[in-house]
This record gives sequence, structure tokens and C-alpha cells, in this order.
Amino acid sequence: MLNPAAHQPRSASAWPAQPFSAVVAGTGSQVPERVLTNADLEKIVDTSDQWITERTGMKERHISAPDEAASDIAVKACEKALTEAGVESADLDLIVVGTVTGDMPFPSTACVLQQRLGAPRAAAFDVSAGCTGFIYALSVARQFVASGTSRTALVVGVELLSKITDWTDRSTCVLFGDGAGAAVLKADTRPGKGILATYLAADGNGGKHLYMPAGGSRHPASAETVRERLHTCKMNGNAIFKDAVRSMADAFRHLLRQTGLGFDDVKLMIPHQANLRIIEATAKLLNFPPERVFVNIAKYGNTSSATTIIALDEARAAGRILPGDVVILLAFGAGLTWGGVAIRF
Ligand code: COA
Repeated sequence: MLNPAAHQPRSASAWPAQPFSAVVAGTGSQVPERVLTNADLEKIVDTSDQWITERTGMKERHISAPDEAASDIAVKACEKALTEAGVESADLDLIVVGTVTGDMPFPSTACVLQQRLGAPRAAAFDVSAGCTGFIYALSVARQFVASGTSRTALVVGVELLSKITDWTDRSTCVLFGDGAGAAVLKADTRPGKGILATYLAADGNGGKHLYMPAGGSRHPASAETVRERLHTCKMNGNAIFKDAVRSMADAFRHLLRQTGLGFDDVKLMIPHQANLRIIEATAKLLNFPPERVFVNIAKYGNTSSATTIIALDEARAAGRILPGDVVILLAFGAGLTWGGVAIRF
């Protein structure tokens, strides 16, 4: 059950007027080379292309190489986003990365990227919000830009869930893929541009439904934690499914309320790509036209915090987002967390 307190309408004072707009000046995305198809998975666990396709909408996903880490994929997405934005990495003020599969527990992957990109002026930190990671990271960065604290910010969603997947567990291993996406935010003095509103929520009661038990201070790494596969993702898929639909619909309604926009003003909804049935059920619950919902789950599976930014980048490249269009990103994930962002391009 979602945390009821998180759903109370917040007072207008929660959204004070900000001196700047945070505009999305560039996006980029990157996935590893190797493709793992449903047919490949049939050889690993007791599953079938038919089951995966019908229950999730997934056909294939990209899986990183054994020696590839999150920053190896993310750095390429960042370079593309910076190039499109016309921003030099040396001019970045802030790097925020949404991830739960960074290169290592610390330092943050944001700091690794700061060094690799050559952004010595940028403050850098990671945000842990499961699959809502990019939405949380974007919301945080927007506050820095809109308040005038940062003029340019790089926001990244990167996940290599294949590295924490239990490849003997058919209920999870068919779902996840690896990938990264990045967006560059710039401060803009024109009102009504860029990020119009953000909405973040969480319910720690649902943490037990999606988690990795070991590797932290509760269960530090040991021979036993490795033997018991406690460094892999555990999930109660059914429990998450139900809340996912309600929480993304809830975030969508909050964003419309905050912005005063109507359904017809939203050109494209970009939901978290965790399950095609969740995406369809969310659109149906909202009565939102399916042709204005962006879906690319068949190609990538669930890339966790990277799904919405990869999808946004693809939608822009495909010409589905034109200047002036409003797009709403939605996500839910471990925590449980959920939220959304409304952006005018
Ligand atoms: N291949 C074949 N059969 C599978 C399977 C697989 N990969 N995974 C599970 N099954 C079986 C189950 O064992 C079960 O068999 P049973 O009826 O004999 O017990 C049956 O399929 C139905 O399992 P169930 O878990 O009820 O399926 P589902 O329709 O709920 O779909 C998920 C499972 C995981 C796809 C779905 O619950 C889901 O997408 N949940 C959300 C997960 C998510 O979004 N996670 C990330 C959050 S960011």
C-alpha cells in the first residue's frame, strides 16, 4: 500500500518561485554492445520467449562486459549530452548521478565521471532511489540550477543491474538490462521553459519488496553472503506491480496539478520501462491516449534508473518531441520511491 501521507496535496509555498528556469540543453544515451535475447535466456533458465514477451513486453536487453563498469557506459552518454548542449565539461558546476550499481560503493560514480570527463569545477554526488534514480537526480539538479546555485548541471541515470542479478532466478534475471543516459541542464532567464515541475515520493514500508541484502553495514561481504547469493537483487514482483501503476498515475496527476496543464497539453508520457503491462495499465488508469506514451522496453528491458533518460533521448532523436512540447517522465522503484518531472522543450 502506498504511503498515504505522501499523497496529500502540498501547499503552494512548497514551490516558491525560482529565479531561473532549468532547461534541458542536451541529452545522450549509451548501452553496452552485447545483446541478450529471450532465446538466449531460454538457455540459461527455465523460461520462454513467449512468457517473457507476454508478461513483460521485453524481447532483448544489452548486457555489459565483465570488465565494464557503470562509468564506462555513462561517460559516453555524458559526452553526447554535452556535445548537443554545447557545454564544455570544464564549465560544469554540478554532476548528479542516479544509480545503485555504481563503479564501487565509494567514491561516488559522479566523482568518477567528474575526473573522467574533466570537470574540475563541478560538485559531484550520487543519488540512490532505485529505478526512480534519474527522476530524483534531475529534481535535485533542477533545484541547484533554478535557485541560481549552478549554471550548468549534468544529470545521469546509469545502471548495470546485470552485475547484481541472480542468473539462476528466472523471476528476476529476464527483466533487467544495462544502460545509461544523461541530460545537461542550463540556467535560463525565460520563465515557463525547461523543467516546469517535479514530484518525488517514497514509502520505506515497501523496501522489503525490492532490495539487495548484502554488501552494506547490515551484512558486510563474506564468504557466506556470496554463497547465499545475498549480493543479488531480491524482488516481490507482484507487490511492486500493483503499486507501480498507482504510483506513476499519482505522480502524473500531481504534476498536472502543479503546472495547471491538462491532458491535451502533454505531448508525450515517458514512463519507467519495467513492464509493458504496467505502462499500459498506467495509461489506462489515467485514460491517457496510448499513442502518446513512449515505449522502448522490447529493445532494452528494464535498465532501472536509465530507462526514462534513454527513452527521452530516443524520443527526441525520433522527432517525437518538438520545441514547445511538454513531456512528462514518470518512474517508480526500490525504496519504494516514485515520482515524475514535467519538462517543456
Ligand atoms: N519464465 C517463465 N515463468 C516464469 C518466469 C519466467 N521468467 N518468472 C516467473 N514465472 C512463473 C512463476 O513461477 C509463476 O508460476 P506458478 O504460477 O507456477 O507459480 C508464474 O510464472 C506467474 O508468476 P507471477 O510472478 O505471478 O507473474 P506476473 O504476471 O506477476 O509477472 C513480473 C512477474 C515480475 C514480470 C511482474 O510481476 C512484474 O513486472 N512486476 C514488477 C517488477 C518490477 O517492475 N520490478 C522493477 C521495479 S523498478
